[in-house]
Amino acid sequence: MKIAIGSDHAGFKLKCEITRDLQNDGYDVIDCGTYSEESVDYPDFAEKVAEQVLQNDARGVLICGTGIGISIAANKIPGIRAALCQNSYVARLAREHNDANIVAVGARITGPGLAVEIIRTFLNSEFEGGRHLKRLKKIINIENKHQERS
Ligand code: RB5
Repeated sequence: MKIAIGSDHAGFKLKCEITRDLQNDGYDVIDCGTYSEESVDYPDFAEKVAEQVLQNDARGVLICGTGIGISIAANKIPGIRAALCQNSYVARLAREHNDANIVAVGARITGPGLAVEIIRTFLNSEFEGGRHLKRLKKIINIENKHQERS
């Protein structure tokens, strides 16, 4: 499975650790930057990762200081469902119930050990469909309706 990963400067160090761990797990990791701790703007990396996720039918990992800004930005892109996760239970449900295709974590909130566990849980969980599919379709309908208006 292809994984697109991206962060801003606040998430850079954690991105390096997560990239290494995911590569060791055997994932094909596309690193969308940033590539240093020099100050950058998180929406730029949210967009890069989202584009890779959509183009490659991949999963995405986004990291900023809190995980909030970068997940908000990613969720503006049609087809993206980015879930900010602070524990593994939420990460599992984000896949099983919401079919999230991006997991976001906050490097200033979540330590590296927990962050990797959250991301592995996300990547190893599957959408359950069933009653959740009806709700997912409603989300997609909202997205389509508002795209038509803009
Ligand atoms: C950058 O200082 C910080 O604002 C950013 O990483 C993130 O936490 C925004 O939501």
